[in-house]
Amino acid sequence: MGRVVLNGFLLLAVVVSVTASWIFSSDPTRPNFEFIPQMVHSPRYNAFAPNPNFANGGTLQRPEPGTIARGSMPLHYAATPQDALRAGEDLKSSLDPGNVRARERGAFVFSNFCAVCHGAAGAGNGPVAQRGYPPPPSLLVEHALKMKDGQLFHVLTYGQNNMPSYASQLSRDDRWNAILYVRTMQATATSVPLPTPTAPSTPQLKTTQSDVAKISGGQP
Ligand code: HEC
Repeated sequence: MGRVVLNGFLLLAVVVSVTASWIFSSDPTRPNFEFIPQMVHSPRYNAFAPNPNFANGGTLQRPEPGTIARGSMPLHYAATPQDALRAGEDLKSSLDPGNVRARERGAFVFSNFCAVCHGAAGAGNGPVAQRGYPPPPSLLVEHALKMKDGQLFHVLTYGQNNMPSYASQLSRDDRWNAILYVRTMQATATSVPLPTPTAPSTPQLKTTQSDVAKISGGQP
């Protein structure tokens, strides 16, 4: 008799625990039980919701005029030869000519993005130029040697005649790295000494191009 009662209890316990586990099993399609839900859903305004706390009645406020987004460094140039010259005066590379990492990165950028037209050594005889694209001038001749770093930055950023802009493919850092490499190439090919290091007064960004595009709505 005692055994029957015990077995009855055990059966009941099994049924109860199976049922409980079925009832309380989590359903991934529904949110879990929330403890103190006020902490999860604190009151707040949606970005575009009306808001009585601000004078203009909106939640999202316009930035103050002249505000610059973090990590963003606006360039105030047009894609004109005049502005290329102005960029040559204004913008200086902050990279030390002896910076091996920057130069190696520049070499990588050059061989991936520039050599197709400019040729591996910058002579203007890359495969694309040999197959009908208007060949670029040699980067090893006087004209290119005399261009200032900032002017090269303008060419890479805004393009120049048949040369397209590389602003969307190359971060600013990589444009400066490529420029350093072009300078090294020129120095090696023509035995013109490398420019002396300049004070870091340049818009060298630690952001990637996609960050810049995100922050600034696609500024170069
Ligand atoms: C699609 C081919 C092409 C690619 C790729 C290209 N360039 Fe050019 N580049 C040209 C052409 C063509 C010119 C000549 C533009 C002109 O007529 O003013 C030029 C001009 C230049 C000049 C100015 C030279 C001068 O004497 O006026 C520089 C500097 C330069 N390119 C650097 C680069 C660098 C660095 C890269 C890689 C980031 C690059 N280019 C990628 C085609 C290209």
